[in-house]
Amino acid sequence: MAVYVDSADLEEVREALSAGFVRGVTTNPALIARTGRKPEEIIAAISELWPEELFYQPFSTGAEEAREELERMRDIAGPILVPKIPATWEGLKLLSELAGKGWKCALTAVYSPLQALLAKEAGAFYVIPYVNRATRQGIDGMELVAQISRALQGSKVQIIAASLKSVEEVLGVLSCGAHHVTVPWPLLKAMADHPLSLQAVEEFARVSNSGKEGK
Ligand code: E4P
Repeated sequence: MAVYVDSADLEEVREALSAGFVRGVTTNPALIARTGRKPEEIIAAISELWPEELFYQPFSTGAEEAREELERMRDIAGPILVPKIPATWEGLKLLSELAGKGWKCALTAVYSPLQALLAKEAGAFYVIPYVNRATRQGIDGMELVAQISRALQGSKVQIIAASLKSVEEVLGVLSCGAHHVTVPWPLLKAMADHPLSLQAVEEFARVSNSGKEGK
């Protein structure tokens, strides 16, 4: 399993990547817009932090403009840039074209196993189902991941579960067949910091301090 941080906030990304075990960064137009900076600046700054992979979803909706935008971002970040292309007919056509040129691509905002199957045919490396968003729309996000996993069985396409909002959802998608997860920074911290582990650390610190005081 690989863990990605779902953020365009440079402080969060820096902290996450500094751990040494977070494979990369997934961004989207909303996350980049929230920084108040230009996409080019954010992509340049994140690529200087050496993620293994940096996912970028174009702001442009037209295929021609999206291709140009992705080429511009790849010129900035180099081959670590993974196009994150929304699951639409036009998106699949663009993905097929870029995958044909040897680019590692992801189909994102996936809400059905059929989209995942088309992504496989188009040459996608990753599919990214939106778990919590699906559940909020009345589609069981866990079942969605399980269906995609069954549909892709035997293929090389990997599932990165996204739109995860709790540690329970992270556990759920991994047991439903997701290969990887991308999580916002607070959730990444929450995956590491179990309240009982923190409590144990505090207890040990108390015991060792009282031991020192007794000497
Ligand atoms: C994933 O790559 C997306 O950036 C993200 O998870 C989208 O979902 P959200 O807006 O519900 O978090």
